[in-house]
Amino acid sequence: MRTAVLAIATSIVAMLQLVVAAPLGKSDLCRLEPAPITNQTCQQWYADILVGTPPQEFTVLIDTGSPYLMLPASNCTTCGDHTLFDAALSSTFSVSSATPINPQFATGADAIPLNQSEGATCYLNADTVDFVGLQVQNQPLLLCDSYAPTLNDMPIDGILGMAPPNDTSVKSLYWNLYDSGIFQVPEFGLYLAQGTSGAAEMSLGGLDADMYKGNLQYTRLSDDASGKPSGWVVDQQSVSVGSGSRKKSVLPLGQSQQQQGKRDGGPPAWAVLDTGTAFIQGPDKDTVAKFYAQISSDIRMIDPAGAWGADCGTLDRVATAITFTLGPQSVAITLIVPKEEFNMGEYPGQNGTCQAVVSSPGVPGFSDGSSPIWILGSPLLKQYYTSWDGINNVVGWAERY
Ligand SMILES: *[C@@H]1O[C@H](CO)[C@@H](O)[C@H](O)[C@H]1NC(C)=O
Ligand SMILES: *[C@@H]1O[C@H](CO)[C@@H](O)[C@H](O)[C@H]1NC(C)=O
Ligand SMILES: *[C@@H]1O[C@H](CO)[C@@H](O)[C@H](O)[C@H]1NC(C)=O
Ligand SMILES: *[C@@H]1O[C@H](CO)[C@@H](O)[C@H](O)[C@H]1NC(C)=O
Ligand SMILES: *[C@@H]1O[C@H](CO)[C@@H](O)[C@H](O)[C@H]1NC(C)=O
Repeated sequence: MRTAVLAIATSIVAMLQLVVAAPLGKSDLCRLEPAPITNQTCQQWYADILVGTPPQEFTVLIDTGSPYLMLPASNCTTCGDHTLFDAALSSTFSVSSATPINPQFATGADAIPLNQSEGATCYLNADTVDFVGLQVQNQPLLLCDSYAPTLNDMPIDGILGMAPPNDTSVKSLYWNLYDSGIFQVPEFGLYLAQGTSGAAEMSLGGLDADMYKGNLQYTRLSDDASGKPSGWVVDQQSVSVGSGSRKKSVLPLGQSQQQQGKRDGGPPAWAVLDTGTAFIQGPDKDTVAKFYAQISSDIRMIDPAGAWGADCGTLDRVATAITFTLGPQSVAITLIVPKEEFNMGEYPGQNGTCQAVVSSPGVPGFSDGSSPIWILGSPLLKQYYTSWDGINNVVGWAERY
């Protein structure tokens, strides 16, 4: 059984080779291209998708942090130079609802945090979608007639949400593919490009054994509790900085640590695993201030939107690994953002000042004080080969090649 599955996975993998390419400014996006053309560090990844009959082609961000397949519509006037989807040209298109939907993103295209959530105005429709040769009929599709600037700054047309199937009203494309019966196992695998070169890939319907060593360690998705965010969410037991005997635990995990008893036995914090976020986000400004106080008093907020940093030389000198303990307490595993990821480079518009990897939320109301939510984005996810299984509700982690 296993062998057959891997054969499917491997053939898809081959078509999804993602390699470093030309990102915009600091956006750190990497896509399908034959060769590396800059020294940009990849923090987000995208691929191509075909929508409608006959097919119209789009470039989409692979986003485990959202459920929708979202594209700009032909009547969008604020969608920059993105390719627009023309429903009138598709014989398989159908309208699902005339009620506008406003997906809002609390983190944007790149390493720069947002001052306010940004989004789009979209309508729910359906059409045939082809992703690497695999087709889904009547896939829910959000077509947007307005895009926030954040979306326009990205070299992608839209977003391919890869959220798990059990907590969204609209099923992500991947889980509709799974439901169609073409995969024998539910998981997809992600191998994300590290540093400035090297291929990234995604495997569908199984893992690519050539991309990882040893066994996977699994973290179970969090049980429902009041305040739990949606998406790929796991319990977070702790976060610490440093290594060896100099390792320091950083507590609290959020302002409301002392209120946890009131949260139905929920975990100390939740971690949202999100390929669509280019940094790590702490739950609130106070917690992030305490976090950096453990590392260096030179690290300060450099943008009220939630970016923290220091002058580049200082930040390099104090850079440290960050260790997250994830999963239910009795079986929690430790995962590490290495020291090399700590300094994300010069902050745009601030010559000589570099940005540190942990941001605080810039979007007002992101954290209401009762639910400590961390967003663990690509600086953590690209350190490992990861497996995403929304049927058995686990995320697996292995050492990558
Ligand atoms: C990219 O990195 C290589 C090797 O470190 C260096 O020689 C080259 O000048 C860099 N190119 C750019 C555009 O920074
Ligand atoms: C774009 O088209 C949709 C679907 O027909 C419609 O609901 C929406 O109002 C249109 N938007 C604009 C800006 O014309
Ligand atoms: C989704 O999965 C989680 C993790 O197993 C589970 O706690 C939750 O009850 C599930 N939700 C639904 C709606 O099935
Ligand atoms: C956030 O808002 C502040 C104050 O208005 C501004 O100085 C800063 O540039 C903004 N940052 C971003 C990333 O929009
Ligand atoms: C930053 O400052 C240095 C030294 O003053 C200067 O050489 C460099 O051109 C500046 N870079 C930018 C982007 O302004």
